[in-house]
Amino acid sequence: MLDVQTATAHPAVTRREDYRPPDWQVPEIALDLDLDPASTRVNATLNVVRTSAHDRPLVLDGAGQTPLSVKVDGVAINDWRIEEDALVIPLSGSAHVIETEVEIAPDRNTQLMGLYASGGNLCTQCEAEGFRRITFFPDRPDVLTRYKVRMAADKARFPVLLANGDPVGAGDLGDGRHWAEWHDPYPKPCYLFAMVAGDLVANRATFITRSGRQVALGIWVRPADLPKTAHAIEALKTSMKWDEDVYGREYDLDVFNIVAVDDFNFGAMENKGLNIFNSRYILADAETATDYDFDAIAAVVAHEYFHNWSGNRVTCRDWFQLSLKEGFTVFRDQSFSADQGSAAVKRIEDVRGLRAAQFPEDSGPLAHAIRPDAYLEISNFYTATIYNKGAEVIRMMATMLGPKQFRAATDLYFDRFDGTAATCEDFVACMEEGGGIDLTQFRLWYSQAGTPRVSASLTHEPGSGRAVLKLAQRMPPTPGQPDKKPMVLPLKLKLFGAETAQPIGSEQLILLSDAEEQISFETVTERPVLSINRGFSAPVIVETDRSAADLAFLSAHDDDPFARYEAMQQLMLDTLVEGAKHGQADHAAVIAAVANTLQDPHLDSAFIAEAVLLPSDSFIGDQMALVDPEAIFRAREALRRDLGRALEAQWRAAYDGARAAKFEYSPSAKGQRRLKTVALGYIAASGAVDAASLAFGQFEAADNMTDRQGALTTLVSGNAPERIAALDIFYNRYSDNALVLDKWFSTQALSARDDTLAMVTELARHRDFTLANPNRARALVGAFSVNQRAFNQASGEGYRFVADQLIALDKLNPQTAAKLIPPLGRWRRFDEARAAMMRAELERIVATPGLSKDMFEQASRSLA
Ligand code: ARG
Ligand code: ZN
Repeated sequence: MLDVQTATAHPAVTRREDYRPPDWQVPEIALDLDLDPASTRVNATLNVVRTSAHDRPLVLDGAGQTPLSVKVDGVAINDWRIEEDALVIPLSGSAHVIETEVEIAPDRNTQLMGLYASGGNLCTQCEAEGFRRITFFPDRPDVLTRYKVRMAADKARFPVLLANGDPVGAGDLGDGRHWAEWHDPYPKPCYLFAMVAGDLVANRATFITRSGRQVALGIWVRPADLPKTAHAIEALKTSMKWDEDVYGREYDLDVFNIVAVDDFNFGAMENKGLNIFNSRYILADAETATDYDFDAIAAVVAHEYFHNWSGNRVTCRDWFQLSLKEGFTVFRDQSFSADQGSAAVKRIEDVRGLRAAQFPEDSGPLAHAIRPDAYLEISNFYTATIYNKGAEVIRMMATMLGPKQFRAATDLYFDRFDGTAATCEDFVACMEEGGGIDLTQFRLWYSQAGTPRVSASLTHEPGSGRAVLKLAQRMPPTPGQPDKKPMVLPLKLKLFGAETAQPIGSEQLILLSDAEEQISFETVTERPVLSINRGFSAPVIVETDRSAADLAFLSAHDDDPFARYEAMQQLMLDTLVEGAKHGQADHAAVIAAVANTLQDPHLDSAFIAEAVLLPSDSFIGDQMALVDPEAIFRAREALRRDLGRALEAQWRAAYDGARAAKFEYSPSAKGQRRLKTVALGYIAASGAVDAASLAFGQFEAADNMTDRQGALTTLVSGNAPERIAALDIFYNRYSDNALVLDKWFSTQALSARDDTLAMVTELARHRDFTLANPNRARALVGAFSVNQRAFNQASGEGYRFVADQLIALDKLNPQTAAKLIPPLGRWRRFDEARAAMMRAELERIVATPGLSKDMFEQASRSLA
C-alpha cells in the first residue's frame, strides 16, 4: 500500500475526464532570450485573449521560478501571485499584453527538460511540460501560438543561434555578443518550441518539394562529427519524398534543421522546423555504427520528420491523446522502413520489439490503455503501449480499410484537423467516414488495456470435407480494469494441405468480435494446417493446439514470411518452455526445422538470420506462470549447444558464405552480416575449440562495427582469454567516442557469464561511467536490468544494484530514472523469495526522501 504521507506530499492526479478548454488563448508570443549557461534572462511578451465569458484569472504554468517583473499592458503590476508553481494574474479585460521576465540557469539543469547545456552548447526540450521551465506560459498542447524568438549570446562560444521557423535577422551587439531572430509562421503548442545556441557546423542539402518549394536542409553537429551525417541527410530526403508519395504530405517551411546533442532523455524531438536529436540517432559511419544503428537512424529521422504533419500541423488536444500523434507516427515510420528494405524482416523486428517491451507492460502493474485515463507525471506515459501498441491499432484500421480507403481517411483527417489540436476520437471518426466502416466496438482498443488472448482450434472431418475453426478471445484483467468486453480482432488466416503443402483457398481477413466464433471451410480434401494472425495482423497472443510437426511444416511451407518465422518461434518456444520446466526437452524438431531453413534456396540471409534465432530469455519467461531465470537460461543454452553441434557444418558454411567483401550498407549486405554473426554465435555455443579465435579474427579484421560488435558480443559471453583482449582493444580504440563506449558498457551488461553483476558493479565505478548522461546510464543500468538471468540472480544483489543506481539517478534526472523502474515491477512473475526482494527495493525507492513524482508514480504503481 502507498504510504499516505508520501502520497499526499505528491501532486494530484490529472484525469482525462476533467478536460476543459483553456480559459485564455495566446495567439502570439515574443520571446527574448539573453543566453548564458550560468544565468539566462528570458523576457516573454504574450498576447492573451479570454476565450469565453468567465471571470477566471490568467494562469501561466511555471516550474519553481519567481518572476523578476510582471507587466500588464505595459504597466508593472504587483497583484500577481504564485500558486503551485503557476503565475496567477488577475485581469479585467478580454485581451491583454503580458510581459514577464525570469532568470534560469541552463548549466544547472540536470533534468534535461527546458533549456539546458550539453557538450558546451545550449539546447531545449519542451515535450511534454518543459516550456514552463523556460518561461511562464499555459503549458498545454491546445494553446496554439505564433512565435517570434530573439536570442543573444556570446559570439565566440555560441556562433550558431537557431530556433523554429525561418531566420529573419541577425547582427552583432558590439560587446562580443551577437543576436539572431527567428519567426515561425505556424501557430504551435509550446511543447514544439525549440532553440539551440552552439559551436556547430551543418551538413547542408536542398530538397525540392513536389510543388516546387525549395527547402534548405541542415544537420548541425560538432565539427568533428560532420563526416558522420551523410546517412541522416539521405534518410531525411528519402522521408520527405516518401511522405509526399504515400500520404500526399508536403513540407511547409523554407528551412528544416536538425541538431544532434549528446545529452538527451530519449530518441529525438519533432520541434517545428528544428528537430533536436540524441546524437545516437544521427551520427553513423561504418567504423562506429552497426547496421542496427543505421536502420534506427533512418527510422527516427523519418519519425520526427513525419511528425510535421502527424503531430505538428495536427497536434494533440491534451496529453491523454498522445497516441494520436505517436501511434500514428510510429506506424508511418514502420511503413517507411518496410519500403526501404525487406518488409518481412522489418515486420519481424517490430513484432519482436513489441513483445519485448509492450507485452510485459500490458501484463504488469503499469498496464494502461493507449489512451490512458489518469496520470501523475505525463513523462511516464511515453511508453511502448502509447507508441508501439498505438501503432498496431492504427495498423489494424489500415488493414480493415485497405490501402485506398485508408489514404482517403488520412486525407480527410489531415484536411479537417489541420491547424488544430485533435483527439483520438477525431482520428477514428475520420477512419469511419473515409473508410465507410463502423468502428464502434473497435474503439475498445483505445480504452481497454491488456493483450487479448485468442485460442484457435481447427478440426477436420475427412469424410465430409468440412473443417471447422473454433476461435475464442479472452481479455485478461489489468489494474483498474477487472472485466473487459470482447474486442474486434482482425485476423488474417489461411489453410495449407498437410500432404501437398499447397494452400487451401486464399488468405481471409476475419474480424473476430465475439467471445467465441466458429468458421467453417468446405471441400477440404486433405488434412489442413492452420496459419493464423499472418503478418501479425492483430497484436494478440494466439494459443493453438498445433503440434510440433505442424509448426515445423508451416516454418517450411507457409507463403507468408512472417507466419513462417512465427511458426518457428512457436516451435522453439514450446521446446524451451518444456526444457525450462523439466530440465530437458526433445530438440530434434527444432534442429530439423532450423536445418531446413538454413538450406532453403529461396530465403534471403536476413530472413534466415531472424528465423533461426532463439527467443530471448525474457520472452521465454513471459510464457511461464512463474519465471525461473536459471532454468530458462539452461534450457536455452542447451538448445543453442545442440543446434550448434548438430548443424555445425551448416553454420560454418553460412559463416563462410557470408564473409562479405568490403562494407556496404545495402539490404543484402546487412543480411549477410546478420547471418554471419548469428552463425558465429552457434559455432561458439557448440563448444568448438576454434570458436574464440574465429570470433577474435572477425573482431580484428572487421571493417565495420556490426562485425566488430557481433564478435565482441560472442566473446564477452565466453571464457576465452580473447575476451579481455578484445574488450581492451575495443576500449582503447574508441575511448574518445561516447556512442561506441556506450556499446562497450552495454555489451558487458548483457553478457551471459556468471559474473556479470560483478563486472557491471565494477563498470559503474569506471571513470567513463556517469549517470549524468542518459545514454550512458541506459547502456549500463538499463541493459543490465533486461539481462534476465543476471538481474534476477537469487541473491537479490542485481535488484539492489539497480535500485541504488536509480535512487542516485533520480536526484539528477527523474525522467530517465523512472523509465528504468519496470524490470523491478515484474515481481509478481517470480518466486516468493525474489518477489519479496524486488518489493523491498521498490519500497526503499518509494521511501527515499525527496523522490521525484516521476519515480514515485512508477515505483508505487509497481508495488500495487
Ligand atoms: N515526441 C518525441 C518523439 O518523437 C518524444 C518526446 C518524449 N518526451 C518525453 N517526455 N518522454 O517521439
Ligand atoms: Zn514521436
